[in-house]
Amino acid sequence: MIPFKKLAVSAACLVFILVGIAATRPPEHEHKNLKILPKDISDDDLDKVMDGFKAALGVKCGFCHAREKTPGSDHMDFASDEKPEKNIARHMMKMTAKINKKYFSFNKNEQGETVPAVSCITCHRGNSHPQDH
Ligand code: HEC
Ligand code: HEC
Repeated sequence: MIPFKKLAVSAACLVFILVGIAATRPPEHEHKNLKILPKDISDDDLDKVMDGFKAALGVKCGFCHAREKTPGSDHMDFASDEKPEKNIARHMMKMTAKINKKYFSFNKNEQGETVPAVSCITCHRGNSHPQDH
């Protein structure tokens, strides 16, 4: 099993993540449906990860997240897994973490911690479909 913290760091997009994630703060509120990220991730760190996804793929939050079902509501239901893109993103997070762990373990900082060499943006470069560009 990959330690959760390392997995979170690898899965997130490098530019947005290096600052901050190391400082673990108590969770500000519960996130309901985290399967890859640490369940006690702080709101700040979760925001950094999500902003990284958004930038790496050149999309808005609604690319992966569904809207609330409540009639008249235009809020997002972030915990919902309704949109297939969200689950694809989970596969991508696992894949990215595995690439870093398996093939870039030599990539260490001065503290000896593995630095994620590959992140979403490495392939996506601001496109949701990197193979078309
Ligand atoms: C590329 C897809 C993608 C994009 C874009 C994205 N997210 Fe997410 N988001 C996810 C995935 C995947 C998870 C679940 C991660 C897990 O299972 O550990 C998640 C989880 C969340 C959660 C936690 C929900 C819960 O209670 O379980 C919040 C809040 C959230 N995202 C907010 C946002 C916001 C705000 C944006 C836009 C800035 C955004 N996301 C953009 C894929 C995305
Ligand atoms: C090794 C290269 C690579 C990395 C790293 C990568 N992706 Fe992808 N991703 C792809 C390719 C290629 C596709 C297109 C697959 C297809 O549809 O044929 C894709 C597709 C996706 C899709 C589906 C888009 C759609 O409309 O169907 C999502 C969502 C996604 N990636 C999110 C992420 C996230 C989030 C990360 C970082 C955690 C990430 N990817 C890292 C290569 C990569």
